[in-house]
Amino acid sequence: LASAEFDVSAVSPGKTITVKWRGKPVFIRHRTPAEIATEATVPLSALRDEESDEDRVLQPEWLVVLGICTHLGCVPISGAGDFNGWFCPCHGSHYDVSGRIRKGPAPLNLEVPPYKFTGDAKILIG
Ligand code: FES
Repeated sequence: LASAEFDVSAVSPGKTITVKWRGKPVFIRHRTPAEIATEATVPLSALRDEESDEDRVLQPEWLVVLGICTHLGCVPISGAGDFNGWFCPCHGSHYDVSGRIRKGPAPLNLEVPPYKFTGDAKILIG
């Protein structure tokens, strides 16, 4: 299947679910107002792969990223690491709540797949 739709209405703020799209894990995180505020104020100069949070989301409450570490492809752990986003246990990469690489060997931010909202709490990936 090229595209897949996911109902995220049961995902409460602060929670992340992992879905499968084209055989790959995709993280969908329902971000809290505090998380959104934190990510919005990170200066680009603090980032290895400079991307503003607003350029990585369609709606600030929802972050959608591939669950594949940009170092060597392990699946990072949700809600872990020094920046409360993801931690990759393979070689210690830390990602923030925008999926941006903040510490460790990974060179790039977690990739944002193509997606859109198809309803109040429905996300079509692909
Ligand atoms: Fe994630 Fe190496 S594969 S840190």
